[in-house]
Amino acid sequence: MVNKKVISVILAAGKGTRMKSSLPKVLHTIFNKPLLGYVLEAVNSTGYVSDNFVIVGHEAQKVEEFVRNNYSFVKCILQMPQRGTGDAVNRAVPFLKNFDGYVIVVCGDTPLITGETLKSFIEYHENSNADLTVMSAIFDNPQNYGRIIRDENNKFIAIVEEKDATDEQKAVKEVNAGLYCISWKSVNEAFACLKNNNAQGEYYLTDIVKWAVLKGLNVQSYVLNDNSEIFGINSKQNLAQAFKIMNKKSLERLMSEGVQITDADSVYISPETTIGADTIVLPNVYISGKNEIGKNCKIGPFAHIRDGAVIGNNVRIGNFVEIKKSVIKDNTNVSHLSYIGDSELGSHVNIGAGTITANYNPITKVKSKTIIKDGANTGSNSVLVAPVTINEMASIGAGSVITKDVEEYALAVTRSPVKIISNWVKRKIEQYVGGNK
Ligand code: UD1
Ligand code: CA
Repeated sequence: MVNKKVISVILAAGKGTRMKSSLPKVLHTIFNKPLLGYVLEAVNSTGYVSDNFVIVGHEAQKVEEFVRNNYSFVKCILQMPQRGTGDAVNRAVPFLKNFDGYVIVVCGDTPLITGETLKSFIEYHENSNADLTVMSAIFDNPQNYGRIIRDENNKFIAIVEEKDATDEQKAVKEVNAGLYCISWKSVNEAFACLKNNNAQGEYYLTDIVKWAVLKGLNVQSYVLNDNSEIFGINSKQNLAQAFKIMNKKSLERLMSEGVQITDADSVYISPETTIGADTIVLPNVYISGKNEIGKNCKIGPFAHIRDGAVIGNNVRIGNFVEIKKSVIKDNTNVSHLSYIGDSELGSHVNIGAGTITANYNPITKVKSKTIIKDGANTGSNSVLVAPVTINEMASIGAGSVITKDVEEYALAVTRSPVKIISNWVKRKIEQYVGGNK
């Protein structure tokens, strides 16, 4: 617990030039979720944060729209033009008048930061009675980061950006992770005092350290355990690296919870997916978004679960099966070559190879539901045109296109009757090849 109110300021106005993209950097995705989404969720999972401000600038409209649609409790503040990280936080100052709690500043491009780390960071700040705490990390080869500068008594006195650093300062291995916890009442005046007389001509947020030290305030650093948590995204290469790190952590968590993953090098599972013990995930499986998968299931090889799947126990999702926004109850099999989207499958349902739920009308853009109740089965190559309900124990004949609800225990079949034409092949051979065969 902390005794004061906490407000977050998330920096997301920068251009992200090195992404070489028309999309703002913080809207690039990992497992289908924008980087900014990970940061906002980590910040709010601490349970301490009462209000959130996101500083937007480059492509502000797109970022604001994402925030409005997904995190309506968050307020965006425009920073135009973008004149540095200090100027970015300065935009929030008018919204924080008379605030007497802690402001945490987090970058929107560090999707691997966890709520646990932020929580203990805020607690550390309070417990050490600090006015300002900077998160730091120790790197063997700390390129591009600001360096934590200490005096002869080891007291933290400043942060120097690499571009402004002397060779001696560049040799420092403790760096600024870019996260700050600020006792707002004692430090807020610093923002009006920032100057841009530095190598980049920017207003550096990091200069609040010098200001606080000069005022005789209590300035602390909190050393991060796991450096990967502050891995920042600046390029498409970084995005791929972050994906790998996130995936590895996710698989390790699942295995520690009893999930069997045959080949951790070819399986990708989002951190928001939960899976019950003794479920086996076979090679080449990709699971993104938020999903719940039960116990004793068998997933893959080559399965794709996209988002919003709620899967029970003893379920089989086989090869070349895609599942999206669907509920699948216990003991049901979708074993081969199927698309199940916007559907509800009961228990003991058997989905034949190549069954497709046709859930989307490209003209109306409406997505409709397919409901398949307990014990029903579909023959191979069936198309279920939603909205449609297949009731308990009903059976769909192979190759059917189902456009009406099917009553319980009924067979529905739309296949044209088989026609057998004797000696048809023989006649064709005689006609085209000349009767010798
Ligand atoms: C910053 C720190 C550096 C630290 C590093 C950690 C400063 C001056 N330097 O450097 O000490 O080691 O983070 O990753 O703060 N942003 C805005 N508005 C702006 C400028 C930036 O919102 O005007 C946002 C960016 O979108 C980004 C974040 O602030 O999310 C950090 O900015 P960036 O330019 O990446 O700072 P670094 O050079 O990495
Ligand atoms: Ca950065």
